[in-house]
Amino acid sequence: MPIIIANWKMNPSDLNEALSIFDFMEREAENNNKAEIVICPPFMYLSAISAKLLEKKENANNIKIGAQNCFWEKDGAYTGEISPIMLRNMSCEYIILGHSERREYLNEDDKMINKKIKAALEAGLKVIFCVGEKKRDESGNYFNFLKKQIESGLYGISAQELENIIVAYEPVWAISANKNARADTAEDLAKMVIFIKKILADIFAGAENKAQEIKIIYGGSVNKENFKDFLYVPEISGLLIGADSLNPEELKNILKNI
Ligand code: PGA
Repeated sequence: MPIIIANWKMNPSDLNEALSIFDFMEREAENNNKAEIVICPPFMYLSAISAKLLEKKENANNIKIGAQNCFWEKDGAYTGEISPIMLRNMSCEYIILGHSERREYLNEDDKMINKKIKAALEAGLKVIFCVGEKKRDESGNYFNFLKKQIESGLYGISAQELENIIVAYEPVWAISANKNARADTAEDLAKMVIFIKKILADIFAGAENKAQEIKIIYGGSVNKENFKDFLYVPEISGLLIGADSLNPEELKNILKNI
């Protein structure tokens, strides 16, 4: 069953709107057994959304909630930060870490992301670890860039812990918020997936089967027209959807046609 992750980013600006999108998605999830749906709203709405989820728990097995970030410590003097345990206690099951927008605007580097991944796993969250090159250069340096992101992000992680990690390949040039963005092609994505699997097999030499089992998903300008092309790519386990995940009708269309 593919996993469909909705990354709402810093939207919408009103709680009622957030709840109404969530309600709509929850109703869709009740009638859908073709995908696991993970909604990742801004922190501000997690409490209200998790209360709704708990109310309807028995019907809503297919819908989960996730956060878009966390800090790497459990508690303490870290003004403005939110710990992974707080999120777990708020019924969050997933967390997006290493998103390119946080790398770009908040200067998150590979080391910080690695610390966050470890803290999130320790708190019992499932990590959606985002990687992806900013641009494609003819000399193929982007392969090294991606390799370094993956190696540094997963530094010190055990093969056992891979079960709780999903790698989200999101080339930055494909993310809809960027100028001239265009989705990757299925052919190219298939090659990138093989490359990512090879990097994982090298990092986890001796536990290659665990590395092979890790889920890889794609994100970047996914919409109702192109989502199937990506889901058909061998070894792609799901999608990370940004802009279109705030449009309930778009998302419904995707879910219905999986
Ligand atoms: P997009 O965003 O679907 O709007 O391209 C994806 C993401 O940034 O996670």
